[in-house]
Amino acid sequence: MEPLRTLSLESASPALAREYARVDEALARVDDPTPAWDAAPYGEAAVSSARSAWIERMSAEHGSFPVFAALALQLSEAGASFDAEAVMLRMALDEVRHAALCGEVVAALGAPPVCVAPRAVAPLARHPACGPEERAIRNVIYTTCLSEMVAVARFVEALDAIEAPYLRAATRRLLADEVLHGQFGFFYLEAWAPWLAARPAVCDSLERYLRHALAVIETRLAGTSPRPWTVTDAERALGVPDPARAREVFHTTLEGAVLPALERYGIRAERAWRARRVEPASESLVTLA
Ligand SMILES: [Fe+2]
Ligand SMILES: [Fe+2]
Repeated sequence: MEPLRTLSLESASPALAREYARVDEALARVDDPTPAWDAAPYGEAAVSSARSAWIERMSAEHGSFPVFAALALQLSEAGASFDAEAVMLRMALDEVRHAALCGEVVAALGAPPVCVAPRAVAPLARHPACGPEERAIRNVIYTTCLSEMVAVARFVEALDAIEAPYLRAATRRLLADEVLHGQFGFFYLEAWAPWLAARPAVCDSLERYLRHALAVIETRLAGTSPRPWTVTDAERALGVPDPARAREVFHTTLEGAVLPALERYGIRAERAWRARRVEPASESLVTLA
């Protein structure tokens, strides 16, 4: 079994902690004061569910950081612009900030702000048959246009239901960054639109890739839930994700927003969606928070 280590909010270096606080403040998109946490209206069972959800989210957010860091290197290999590289690195940094923010919420909800992280990070897909430009585009589409767009839709749905002011504020802070993470892929495709328009063979290759990628992400993000129950009203008021809604949110986001947007760049995403199927021999793909 893979050895595990524990992440913690505790810093052993006041200097690093001060510098991190500066970075976090500089990148924050929401600077509203955070209301105090008040568990009283919700009951211990719902608070316990919310605590578990934020512990899980802390790990997931931290797991997204090395994906964007690796993708920044792939953008460099592709000859992407400085602004694209810098924004991708910002997104990697956002995921570290998100893990720390989740840790603050976990602590407020009464659990130690720690999460378990794998010692070895899964490598980002290299797509060996592609050149560096298409490799980067494939991974940008998968991570931001698909994965992060679904994450945004889920945050929006959760925010609609959250009543607890403290958790609304924390969720808004995450969502404000996740919107950029979901938009990045489309900004990137816009920047590469002339390159793509001159290469119909790459658009064909991206369609073949999407048949696999869409089937994989559907299995991961719209599959059956390990939690067979639906959430209670008190859990919903605390933003506990409702597994019964995951499938509908996934399909609405993909079919209503993502696929038509990809079509604008000459990528036949809607045809790929209709023909989606997992290719057994393909490289593993990642899912982000
Ligand atoms: Fe995040
Ligand atoms: Fe993200």
